[in-house]
Amino acid sequence: MTVAVYPGSFDPVTLGHFDIIERSSAIMDKVIVAVLNNNSKTPLFSVEERVKMLVDVTRHFPNVEVRSFGGLLVDFVQECHAGVIVRGLRAVTDFEYELQMAQTNHVIAPEVDTVFLTTNLKYSYLSSSIVKEIAMYGGDISAFVHPLVAERIRAKLTGTDPQ
Ligand code: COA
Repeated sequence: MTVAVYPGSFDPVTLGHFDIIERSSAIMDKVIVAVLNNNSKTPLFSVEERVKMLVDVTRHFPNVEVRSFGGLLVDFVQECHAGVIVRGLRAVTDFEYELQMAQTNHVIAPEVDTVFLTTNLKYSYLSSSIVKEIAMYGGDISAFVHPLVAERIRAKLTGTDPQ
């Protein structure tokens, strides 16, 4: 059974991330989407909120689970009994950073390998920050995120978020 971990900040999950989750869930037996509890970034959404949004948009995939983690990624991968890390490559600019991470992780944990999926061309320019910036200026983000996520961003930015 091939268990993969797809890690990231997911602040919030975009359609680019969703594309990677959908495609990796078709290849792997199980995919654990791992939300980083990252103190070095100031997120718009709490870890719990990010996990909830991911759960809501992925609930129709029976082999996808969403969890949060802190500390080293490879420790979490081992805790999950997973052997694979999935990462999306959007453009050549992602490559150097991703190569460094994959190689470092492989040195720390030789039994863990990283698999790269090329991001759908439709989303190769996308990032969570860009979505938040467009939303902050009142722009239409419906082409970039799930409707449910768009609603949560709007609520968060207008202070009408019930959470
Ligand atoms: N579609 C759309 N956007 C994408 C994307 C895709 N397929 N893939 C990445 N992105 C965007 C994200 O939205 C994010 O945008 P933002 O910076 O505007 O928030 C950006 O690309 C970075 O992606 P993300 O997956 O969040 O990477 P990260 O660099 O924040 O985190 C971890 C990467 C979690 C894998 C890494 O930080 C980690 O492993 N941390 C744990 C500590 C550790 O083990 N460190 C040693 C590593 S060698």
